Amino acid sequence: MNETAASGPERALILAPFGRDSAVAAAILKEAGFEPAICMDLPALCRAYDEGAGLALIVEEVLQDDDFRPLAGRVDAQPAWSDFPMIVLAQRGGGLERNPATLRYSQALGNVSFLERPFHPTTLVSMVQTALRGRRRQYEARDRLEALRSAVRRQQQDRQHLRLMVNELNHRVKNTLATVQSIVAHTMRGADASLRTRDTLTSRILALSKAHDVLTNEQWSGADLGEIAAQAAQPFRLGLGEGRISLSGPKVRVPPKTAIAVALALHELATNAVKYGALSTPEGHVDFTWSLKRGRGHKDLTAVWRERDGPHVSPPVRRGFGSRLIEKGLAADLNGTVRIDYPADGVVCTIHARIDGEGTSEEPAPARRDQGRGSAAFAAPGGAVEASPPA
Ligand SMILES: Nc1ncnc2c1ncn2[C@@H]1O[C@H](COP(=O)(O)OP(=O)(O)OP(=O)(O)O)[C@@H](O)[C@H]1O
Ligand SMILES: [Mg+2]
Repeated sequence: MNETAASGPERALILAPFGRDSAVAAAILKEAGFEPAICMDLPALCRAYDEGAGLALIVEEVLQDDDFRPLAGRVDAQPAWSDFPMIVLAQRGGGLERNPATLRYSQALGNVSFLERPFHPTTLVSMVQTALRGRRRQYEARDRLEALRSAVRRQQQDRQHLRLMVNELNHRVKNTLATVQSIVAHTMRGADASLRTRDTLTSRILALSKAHDVLTNEQWSGADLGEIAAQAAQPFRLGLGEGRISLSGPKVRVPPKTAIAVALALHELATNAVKYGALSTPEGHVDFTWSLKRGRGHKDLTAVWRERDGPHVSPPVRRGFGSRLIEKGLAADLNGTVRIDYPADGVVCTIHARIDGEGTSEEPAPARRDQGRGSAAFAAPGGAVEASPPA
């Protein structure tokens, strides 16, 4: 009787070391098309199990005599997909139900079936067939689990790679904006441009840079409108007093394009208010409010910039960059409309935008007065000049 060394996931391990039992069992299984592997003792069975097997056929006497803890330990340590089938060839006797040891074997070895001797070869073959079919299912589950795990691993790697790329890109955009700002400042100085022109240009680039900062913090997934508005208002609040611009509206996330457009538009509106409108006198105020209305699969955003208590306003005779950017550029980026009115008691700019999909919520948010956030960019030389009322 030779121990079979070859490994294979479908092997039927046979542990029946008395007389010709294992040779007979192996012959029956071989004839039925299975792959029998005879094991001389329990340690040999454990080794064969470690190399891979479909099931084990064990005579009860071995379990009685030997300490089968190493096998029970392996059963306990099986991965989630595995439930190794074992067929115990029980001793001839007065029926399995009267054999108290069967319960003990079941508890220690898990997936155990009992076959009382003497048995017909066909019964053995059909039990082995059933056990092997179950084992094949376990292998399928293992392969699916492994495929799932490697898909998750790949997804995590992709996500990490994407995060690295986005971080790198954010870094480069920030550096590029800083470089553009520096080029503009130096070129304008050389070209004898007025301080006002220089500051107008610098503060516009800074407004863009601040909006980028908010979006970078959110991985460019969108931005909170309140935060975008607070960033845009910050330098003006710093220069004129916090209470001069009030911001209020529900929490609403807007896509990156909208966030940038709104930030630039608010910068132009505030700059105009400082030059000609409510922020040009000590009494004037600005209220920027927004609200959401639920539509079918989208939300309608209405945002209103309203100036009050400022100087008497007359309709403008010329259009500059500011109003063109607001009425044309913002409207195009918003998927909506923008309108500036010039009533005598103060400019009103009304924005209607459609926000598709999720990402909006209608929780009421208190009026924002968070002027201190992210002041670094505006602290750069020349950055806050437009924030001061004209002399
Ligand atoms: N808040 C305001 N209150 C009163 N008048 C305003 C206000 N905003 C704009 N205006 C008038 O509208 C005109 C056009 O504004 P716009 O922002 O387009 O140009 P600008 O501010 O003169 O120049 P630019 O924006 O190109 O620096 C202004 O010249 C001004 O007469
Ligand atoms: Mg302007």
